[in-house]
Amino acid sequence: MAEFVPVDPFDLVIFGGTGDLAQRKLLPALYHRDQDEQFSEDSRIVSVSRRDIPDDEYVTWVHEVLEQHLPEHEVDDAVFERFSKRLSHVSLDVDDANGWDRFREHIDDGAERIRVFYLATAPSLFGKIANGVGDVGFADDRARIVLEKPVGHDYQSAREINDAVGARFEESRIYRIDHYLGKETVQNLLALRFGNSLFEPLWGRGAIDNVQITVAESLGVGDRFDFYEQTGALRDMVQNHVMQLLCLTAMEPPASMDHDDIRNEKMKVLRSLKPITRDKVRQVTARGQYGSGMVDGEPVDEYGPTDGSPNDRADAETFVAIKAEIDSWRWRDVPFYIRTGKRMARKSSQIVFEFKPVPHSIFGDEPLQANRLVLSLQPEEGVQLSLMTKEPGPGGFRMRSLPLNLSFNDAFALNYPDAYERLLMEVLRGNPALFMRRDEVESGWQWIDRIIESWRLEQMDPQEYMSGSWGPTDAFVMLDRDGRRWYENA
Ligand code: BG6
Repeated sequence: MAEFVPVDPFDLVIFGGTGDLAQRKLLPALYHRDQDEQFSEDSRIVSVSRRDIPDDEYVTWVHEVLEQHLPEHEVDDAVFERFSKRLSHVSLDVDDANGWDRFREHIDDGAERIRVFYLATAPSLFGKIANGVGDVGFADDRARIVLEKPVGHDYQSAREINDAVGARFEESRIYRIDHYLGKETVQNLLALRFGNSLFEPLWGRGAIDNVQITVAESLGVGDRFDFYEQTGALRDMVQNHVMQLLCLTAMEPPASMDHDDIRNEKMKVLRSLKPITRDKVRQVTARGQYGSGMVDGEPVDEYGPTDGSPNDRADAETFVAIKAEIDSWRWRDVPFYIRTGKRMARKSSQIVFEFKPVPHSIFGDEPLQANRLVLSLQPEEGVQLSLMTKEPGPGGFRMRSLPLNLSFNDAFALNYPDAYERLLMEVLRGNPALFMRRDEVESGWQWIDRIIESWRLEQMDPQEYMSGSWGPTDAFVMLDRDGRRWYENA
């Protein structure tokens, strides 16, 4: 049975407290955990932003935000009454020294609670905020600092941010978020791999032909056009979410669930990734941008600004596919095909392991399909293993591939907490296992920077794909060249 264990009293200070992430994810997540009575009476949530809002207006605003982002009727009067007592807002311009004095007075009430500083702002402010928090004497041994992704936009900027934050906070107090690590099925990957002896002997070049990781979204970029133009899908999705999935899939068994044991193994994978150089980039990557099309039966527009300005400056990719190779004993010659895109046919994240075909068929011309293990991460969570079986009845020996199906929804009949709920609770408990360590982030960027540089040198512009499809032609050609295909049901 799921159990809700209360956490020690805390002050959670959200920089960017009135921003998009706070509205969509953080406030709903905190409300849910409060609903399950995990917070002590004196725990507080403090929003920080440049906006000057009196506390009572802030509380009313939070109520509206919850009404908007939680399912209908979920905001309960009694729970909100309790939640609202924790809330306050402080206005701060991080460049203004007087502002920081006001900030200190607002936070410091003499009590000895855990202090979490959640930086849901532009990454360019991370260093400044860490400094400000340090200057007012809050970077002490009860403090934790959370950095929302992206940590920088390349290796150099990530290092600068890590140096600046690291000058004030020890590494063990820094929690770099990748919300995919908080997803239930991503953690289930560890359970499946290391809680069953069945898979380990098969996990590698001896039995696996190729691995496919897909993170597809049906949503478009929406009103984040300017952000996307500076980021693109490679930085927004691959550098973090997709690479984390790749690491957890490919890593060696860690010694324990201890955070550094897991992160050391992930690091080895990152260090074994073959760099993607200019001479190979056209063969092993595909870059796409969505055009108009139909998604979920509705017509949708091409990628571009939503403010009516002309669309002649749309340069970023909204889709990426990469054939990644890991130079290690286990994975040598096993390609990891990864892809992620917006405005794809449907939302679907999955990891597919295609096993090698049988070495010799005793069934004559009867076609045999290689076994396949599919881990579905979202929207439905489950595991499927396809096996060849004999079709019953007369008429010769006819073979058919059938799946063994495990659906987590059916098995547990549980509403999983959102990834942010879990991650916030892990920060409050002081457990960094589900967060990225400095070297992971920086190594990830080194691999990504090389791809961006190769694209630039090759002048490899995004290829248009139709909204509602599975990406540009190049992504299909990439697998075709290797005599393989993307797993159809993606
Ligand atoms: C975010 C990206 O990190 O992840 C978004 O910035 C993306 O562009 C989102 O839409 C996807 O998250 P999820 O949990 O919906 O798969």
